[in-house]
Parts: sequence; structure tokens; C-alpha cells
Amino acid sequence: MINCLRGWPEPIVRVQHLSDSGIRVIPDRYVKQPSERPGLIPDSIETEINIPVIDMSDLHSLDPTLREKTARLIGSACREWGFFQVVNHGVSHELMARTREAWREFFQQPLEEKQRYANSPSTYEGYGSRLGVEKGAALDWSDYFFLHYLPVEIRDQEKWPSLPVACRELVGEYSKEVVKVGGKLMKIFSSNLGLTENYLQESFGGEEMGACLRVNYYPKCPQPDLALGLSPHSDPGGMTLLFPDENVSGLQVRRGDNWITVNPIPNAFIVNIGDQLQVLSNANYKSVEHRVLVNSAKERVSLAFFYNPGGDMLIKPAEQLVEEEAPPLYPAMTYNEYRLFIRTRGPCGKAQVESLKSPT
Ligand code: OGA
Ligand code: NI
Repeated sequence: MINCLRGWPEPIVRVQHLSDSGIRVIPDRYVKQPSERPGLIPDSIETEINIPVIDMSDLHSLDPTLREKTARLIGSACREWGFFQVVNHGVSHELMARTREAWREFFQQPLEEKQRYANSPSTYEGYGSRLGVEKGAALDWSDYFFLHYLPVEIRDQEKWPSLPVACRELVGEYSKEVVKVGGKLMKIFSSNLGLTENYLQESFGGEEMGACLRVNYYPKCPQPDLALGLSPHSDPGGMTLLFPDENVSGLQVRRGDNWITVNPIPNAFIVNIGDQLQVLSNANYKSVEHRVLVNSAKERVSLAFFYNPGGDMLIKPAEQLVEEEAPPLYPAMTYNEYRLFIRTRGPCGKAQVESLKSPT
């Protein structure tokens, strides 16, 4: 098992450079099965339904009714959607924009500069173009950069891009601020689930929690109706705070049999529940499947910040949420054990968290 994680099974193709080469027909590896293709997408998607939007400043309102109402809204978003957007979250919009621009510049550099950071499947840190190590597997239309921020012991700024020059400092500042937002939400989640305010954060290991950043780069795709930028998956960790592209939408969230396209609000974070919070909440909160569409007109950059348990933390349903009528739905497992599944198999919908369900 460990052995197969040392290297990639075949040469890595950078999707961005495939796209830049001007091909009109995408290689078979990127063509999805007909049932998985995005389907016909109208030019402008103006659906009535969208994921809930939460004004986080209302959590500090002088009006206790508004505070409680906002916390309740967050709770029902986690139960019903597994997704919501937050505005007035306290992170400087300028810092957000500068960080995203630094990453856009990173990807616009020549291939050789980026190759210095080429990653391997043992840690995934660095510049990558695939998840999973199955030879001949179908591939998604995206490249990414993955780095660790927490715990501090595994943070290694030497592995972060040295160019553009501001990149390392921006990533540090940005991550610090996003962790604060995550921490506030963890308290709201805990209280909303009927747990003590610090329960979830302590389950993640407190200060020893994990946090990493994946910057996704979705190049223009000449056949967007045949490919996906990111196949359906649920996020394996605790919660994700996504800062999407300001110009291009693409994220879709599973809602029953439908895919709902998220309309990103400028400067908002799109927050979603990951598998570990689904387990801790004994499935009161949902880690919902999502996927990313590509398009032929514009590339798209998104920053996905993963707020996770420490790797050695044993994650299991909170005892307060387990009763005779609500038996534990998942066995206890450390986050490191859990993650190994995904790293080997690549994105596969909700298959991993579902396959763990205890036979009750
Ligand atoms: C992810 C993810 C969505 C996006 O990185 O896990 O779901 O819009 N990203 O890039
Ligand atoms: Ni995701």
C-alpha cells in the first residue's frame, strides 16, 4: 500500500499546457462516461434555488434574537445543504484578492518554474495534476497546488512557491485569517449540535488541528460538455472554506438528483461540511457531493482551504448524539487512516464515507 504511493503510475500531463497547446479535441482520458457528463448547460444559469447565504456579522449583533437566528440558519444549512456562503466574515477583501492574484500569477509562469514543485502521491504537497494512482484512470480537467499550513511541525514554507515574491507571505497571512473564521464556525456548529462550545475543536486536536490549502487551476477546455474540472466528491476533512474565482462560476452542489450551480457572491467564502464533521455529528450534518464544470472561454482559479482534524485524532460520532434511536453510524478512525483511502483511489463521490457506515 505505502509502496504504491511513492510515484505516479505514468507520466504526468499538465492540463494547463495541454489547453495552451491549442488542441480542439481533448484526449480520451478526460472524456467522461455519458452518464457523468455535465449535460447541456445554458449560457447563463439563473436558477431560483441557491445555497444559503449567512451574514457572519449578525453573530455579534447586539440583538440576541438576531444572533440566535443566525446561528440557527447556519445549523440548518449544515443539516439540509452541507453548504452555505458567508459574507462579513472578517477577512480583508484586499488580502483575499491579492492572494488569489498571486496564485494566478504562479500558474501563469513557465512550466519549468512550476515543475520545481512537482508533487508525488506520498504527500501530495506541491504542483499536481491528478488524485489517485490507478493506472489508466479517467482524469479531471485541472491542475492544482497543495500545501500544508497546520500543524506547524509539518508546515514547510520552502515547499511553497517562492515566485511570485509575495506568495509565501500572502499564503501565511491568508491562512491565519481563514483559520479564525473556521474556528468561529466550529463553535457555532458545536452549540447547534447540542455539544459544548469547544467540543468539535477539541475533537480536531485543538491547536494541533490540521489545515491545508489546495489552489485549483481549471484551464479553458475546448470540449467542456465532455469533461469535468473536478469529478463528484465529498471533501474528506472537517470543513472547507472555498474562495472561488470572481469571474467564472463552475462549482455545482448535489441536491437530490440535481446539480445546483453556486452563484458566488463577491468576497464571500463558500463553506462546506466535510466527511469528518459528518462522522462527528453522527450524520446530523451532511458532507455533500460537489463537482466542478469547465468552460471554453475562461480559465478559473479557486482556493480551497481545508480545516481538518489532526492526523492522529480518533474521529467518531459524539456520544451525546448517539442514542438507542440514533446508533453510531460510523466506526472510530483516525483522520490519517481515512485519508489513505482517498489518496489511493482519487475522487469517487460519497463512496468512502458511505462505505464506512457500520452495519446496524
Ligand atoms: C475542492 C473543491 C471546488 C472549486 O477543491 O475540493 O471542491 O470550485 N473545489 O474549485
Ligand atoms: Ni471539494
